[in-house]
Amino acid sequence: MASAEITVTTLALKDFAAIRDEVYKKLGLYFEDSKVPFIQKRLEKRMETLGMDSFTDYAFLLRFGDKDGREIQALANLITTNETYMFREFEQLQAFADHCLPMVLKSIEKTRERRLRIWSAGCSSGEEPYTLAMILMEVMHDFRVWDIKIKATDVDQVRLEMARWAVYDERSVREIPAEYFDRHITRLPAGYYGVKPETAKLVEIEHLNLSDRLAMRGMRQLDFIFCRNVLIYFDDASRKAVVDHFYNALKPGGFIFLGHSESIGRISTAFQLLRVGQHLVYRKEMI
Ligand SMILES: C[S@@+](CC[C@H](N)C(=O)[O-])C[C@H]1O[C@@H](n2cnc3c(N)ncnc32)[C@H](O)[C@@H]1O
Repeated sequence: MASAEITVTTLALKDFAAIRDEVYKKLGLYFEDSKVPFIQKRLEKRMETLGMDSFTDYAFLLRFGDKDGREIQALANLITTNETYMFREFEQLQAFADHCLPMVLKSIEKTRERRLRIWSAGCSSGEEPYTLAMILMEVMHDFRVWDIKIKATDVDQVRLEMARWAVYDERSVREIPAEYFDRHITRLPAGYYGVKPETAKLVEIEHLNLSDRLAMRGMRQLDFIFCRNVLIYFDDASRKAVVDHFYNALKPGGFIFLGHSESIGRISTAFQLLRVGQHLVYRKEMI
């Protein structure tokens, strides 16, 4: 077995820097020098699959030999942080359900369009978009007469496959409010849980790299964007580029929700900062 004989050496700072720069350019993710051991571990796995034993060769491959983007995608599947669970940051979701959603629905209803578009950007294995689907179904008693789409995107293909299965373990579902649980979740054998089809069908799952300008330009006319716990892995410049696209993707009066500890104040003044209940939310101004 060839792969068992391969001994990978230590990742030198110059190779790390070359790989880091490629990852930054293509994915927007920025890794500090302190992340050498983390990246080394993930790369070792990948290089074993490729039958490579030199980080210098791997850096070269990533930089000059990855014409179809397959290698950066394989790396993305290994180095992204995918932690998530349903009803994460509950109070923020409450602000969405109790304040922001009614505001937006009211203004849509004036147009008689009944079309609602939400984007979960960086959805990982799907817990966030399915949470949003549950909330909409619980809060909008007439949801069946609306044209609702929750677009769920991520760069990690492995997680997206999990999102498509919509089957979870106890950890993912334990924060679902008890009164919602049986309406949206089926108990499966061996301690697994599945999202019921009526809830799942509001969610549309797609691969999208937030650093892909062309793909980002295709996202338009959205009422809400959730991009929680994603941009913390970006630096200010790549974060700003993403937030500028979000601004263009939102309809006037649309909202953007970031993670608890994240703020766009430093990188964009385009949004209005509103206090909604206990929460601060960003809104694109109305025209
Ligand atoms: C920590 S998870 C957040 C999941 C969910 N939004 C939440 O708050 O529970 C971060 C996700 O961002 C995704 N991500 C990182 N860089 C990305 C990029 N350039 N384009 C799209 N998704 C990206 C990762 O693959 C990962 O699944």
